[in-house]
Amino acid sequence: MSLVLVANRAPIRPTSTGWAPALGGLASALLPVLEAQGGAWVAMQEPDERTPLFQRYPDDDPRFTVRRVPLEEPEYAAFYQGMANRVLWPLAHYLVEHVEPERTFRDAYRAVNRRFAHAALDVAREQGGAVQFWIQDYHMMLVPEMIRGALAGAQVGFFWHVPWPASEVFRIVPSATALLKGLLGSDLIGFHTEGYAENFRESARDLLGAEIDPEGVHWQGRHVRVEAHPIGIDVERFVGFGERPETQAQAEALVEELGDVQIVLGVDRLDYTKGLLLRMEAFERFLELYPEMHGRVTLLQVATPSRTGVPAYDRLRRDMDEITGRINGRFAQGAWAPVRYRYRSFTQEELAVLYRAADVAFVTPLRDGMNLVAHEFAAVSERGALVLSELTGAADYLDGAVFVNPYDAEGMARSLREALDLPEDDRRRRLASLRAAVERLDVHVWADRFLTSLDGRPAPPADGEGG
Ligand code: ADP
Ligand code: F6P
Repeated sequence: MSLVLVANRAPIRPTSTGWAPALGGLASALLPVLEAQGGAWVAMQEPDERTPLFQRYPDDDPRFTVRRVPLEEPEYAAFYQGMANRVLWPLAHYLVEHVEPERTFRDAYRAVNRRFAHAALDVAREQGGAVQFWIQDYHMMLVPEMIRGALAGAQVGFFWHVPWPASEVFRIVPSATALLKGLLGSDLIGFHTEGYAENFRESARDLLGAEIDPEGVHWQGRHVRVEAHPIGIDVERFVGFGERPETQAQAEALVEELGDVQIVLGVDRLDYTKGLLLRMEAFERFLELYPEMHGRVTLLQVATPSRTGVPAYDRLRRDMDEITGRINGRFAQGAWAPVRYRYRSFTQEELAVLYRAADVAFVTPLRDGMNLVAHEFAAVSERGALVLSELTGAADYLDGAVFVNPYDAEGMARSLREALDLPEDDRRRRLASLRAAVERLDVHVWADRFLTSLDGRPAPPADGEGG
């Protein structure tokens, strides 16, 4: 059966030398799946983007096709920047103060979802034969219902890549019921954790009056299955980066360049859900509490530009510059800068060098789904410790981490010290446990398990679940 995947973000982005994997969890996870299985990926084309509307990838040995849906500036602003990123994104992350009125975005969201549904149906017709539609994430909530409306017998799967909030929070958005009905056009809806799946079933019960059971939602004469399918990374790829001799050599050179300090690493899209400002405050508090660590530890924070033009993201960019300046102004001595902050994107090979060089990965989102940065670190590091926010879906699975509350700067400062001081054997034991969990959650296993379940055949157990 051939695969037609629909996701707002294309899996590859143009660079000065060719193509590179796009940034963000969804693209990093699904690109290797399409490379392995083949099929088609339907994605948006931003207004100023110069990419082909139809592309086979990779050029030299095509594995799959990319079909782009070109968006004009006003629909991009209302659909992507507006409904997706100023309403649904903060809603899913419980950051209700960032949720904006959605009335002016609603029509564009529906119209763009319709264009994606049509594009997916066109691609399916061209491919011929049996097709599985696999729709991704909060940009595309209405697409399943639209595909089912046009093709009653279609096999439609949906994966939600971010947290699903409690129904009391989801109902804040005035379009809540229309959005739920859109999703319920699916045969199978997947979430990272059983907790998110339960929140979704309860939303359908509370807001639509649907009958639910532990396996799913009864809706319009169909049973829509709602399951936990924890996603991971392409483990072999990242382990391979870690094992390259040049990765090790560059990691050593980086430590030397920073003055033989211990490295605390942050790697994120510049996004307010990632808890960056509170993380910086925690590091500032760490420096206040532990003067003996001055000159011995550096926070290396890399943040890739994301969703520029959305006011909250532009504001965060300014705030990060300011807080970095404040901390360095207070504590820097000689050549030692307590914070090294880089606002740009890195290749996966470059990230592997950072993961290898780090003593601690400091992953403290206010809310997050699986957080693939934590997985990538565990796959590449050979001696590091992971400090992880307990408010992530990943916390359900990565029990080798040191857990923190990302709203508690004082607690994070103390846990950071604990992580830096972990005895060697404890650190190794934790890393081994993290590596084992990351291997169980491998993205190829995740995709096989989801698509097998969608196909109606018994899916293998979710090995990674619960730890
Ligand atoms: P999200 O999906 O919210 O972006 P994840 O942590 O799940 O968060 O996934 C982020 C992905 O983006 C990872 O694969 C990571 O390697 C990549 N990424 C994040 N920050 C950077 C950066 N500064 N440079 C390059 N890649 C990055
Ligand atoms: O993983 C969540 C997610 O929103 C993905 O859907 C998206 O690809 C990624 O974060 C990056 O965000 P954006 O596509 O808005 O750049």
